[in-house]
Amino acid sequence: MAGSLQTDTQLSADVLLDDSRLPKVPEPGAMVIFGASGDLTARKLIPALYDLATQRRLPMKFAVVGVSRTQMSHDEFRKKLRKTLNEQRAGKVRDSVWESFCGSVFYLPGDTKKAETYQELKDFLKRLDGERGTRGNRAFYLASSPTLFPAVVEKLGEAGMNRGENGGWARLVIEKPFGRDLESAKELNTGIRRYFEETQIYRIDHYLGKETVQNIMALRFSNSVFEPLWSQHYVDHVQITVAEDIGIGTRGAFYEEAGALRDIVQNHLMQVLCLTAMEPPVAFDSEGVREEKVKVLKSVRRIPRDKVGEFAVRGQYTSGWVWGEEVSGYREEKNVAPDSTTDTYVALKLFIDNWRWAGVPFYVRAGKRLPKRVTEIAIQFKRTPHAPFAGAENLEPNILVVRVQPEEGVSLKIGAKVPGSGFRIRSVNMDLLYGTAFLEEVPDAYQRLLLDLMLGDPTLFIRADETESAWDILDPVISSWAESEKVAFYPAGSWGPAESEELVARDGREWRRP
Ligand code: BG6
Repeated sequence: MAGSLQTDTQLSADVLLDDSRLPKVPEPGAMVIFGASGDLTARKLIPALYDLATQRRLPMKFAVVGVSRTQMSHDEFRKKLRKTLNEQRAGKVRDSVWESFCGSVFYLPGDTKKAETYQELKDFLKRLDGERGTRGNRAFYLASSPTLFPAVVEKLGEAGMNRGENGGWARLVIEKPFGRDLESAKELNTGIRRYFEETQIYRIDHYLGKETVQNIMALRFSNSVFEPLWSQHYVDHVQITVAEDIGIGTRGAFYEEAGALRDIVQNHLMQVLCLTAMEPPVAFDSEGVREEKVKVLKSVRRIPRDKVGEFAVRGQYTSGWVWGEEVSGYREEKNVAPDSTTDTYVALKLFIDNWRWAGVPFYVRAGKRLPKRVTEIAIQFKRTPHAPFAGAENLEPNILVVRVQPEEGVSLKIGAKVPGSGFRIRSVNMDLLYGTAFLEEVPDAYQRLLLDLMLGDPTLFIRADETESAWDILDPVISSWAESEKVAFYPAGSWGPAESEELVARDGREWRRP
């Protein structure tokens, strides 16, 4: 598939995706980052902005203002950011680009719970409008601890910064996790809507910025061969895997509060599920796409509170070996309680009760300290109704795997004749590797999302009803787990607990080993 399709793939992608927005440069504006001394700013946001600067995609009149409590000068902030960028890019940062970019990076120390911080910020932004021509347009990026989100929104609103200056725009970007459960997510939405309209709110999930996640839509809706098969008529079941080999690193305190269900399943995994299962949108725009995603979430059958054990597995890693290295168990990690029941692994069996997917199980799993990092969607098709060749009944069924990361691509398992006399059939893969089919460099997810934010396109951001629906699906699991001590342990470096194998084995199926 890879070689012969290469040219066609490039041509058709150009035609079909025709993303005429990409060359657009956003209007002048300022981006304010709350929680600017944190990891996300240095590791993701600034590198993405630097890359946009390299590609001349940033507006000529642009400014970044970092806000957080740490005392730092503009220069100290810039040096800190440059250091992380150097480490990430192994010294390959272009000095000329960085120099001109970092001239538009500023820092304002301040307590985000205090009104005076916002007054100072407001004055500073007005000064930038005058000096740098940012024209009253502001994007406020909430990258601080989620516990501060409500206070920051309220203070922004009270300071009148929920509207741009002099007719400019104001947009609010909120990092995940968006709430802890349905109730807190609703509260957060209500709090935000007191000051900001839905059209100003950009709830970010970086998975939606990944090229290969968007490619799920390209694959489904720009090819006529897959769509007719994409339903309960032909699909036996679907498996979605978000596996990571890393542990929780230095994020013990965060993870104790979150767990895999809140950290990955509620957002990244649910979004992948939506794109896999949704109906074709009328148009690739914010209403078209988000409307269809919400319909999927609303159709997901709610797990009865007293049956959570039948549909969900909560796992936690113990010590073990990953890539030949001995690693400690979750309970031994820093800032983790020695008797913690936090989930580092989740497996769920879900059903989507609609015309297309009735009766088709969606098995989804996410976990840390699994053998490898892989995100994939596997559509397993029903077997052929009759096997005319000897031994063909033992063949694997057709499986279409959309590999989101790493080694991004699509592969289809098919039965083929083994060369030679006789008629032996064997399963083989037809592979399309994006890395060989396209010459273009794959941009980082944040690059795409920050650009869309500045262009005012919320298609790849999450709407209020989406996030609430996703919590609504998980709420019975959350509340049932909160009342129980039951955790299924798995050694680090394995594919998860035995209970997870049983979840699918009860239906006569098994998890893939990607
Ligand atoms: C983040 C989670 O949202 O996604 C992390 O908080 C996780 O725990 C990360 O490691 C995974 O992202 P990616 O892009 O590496 O798949």
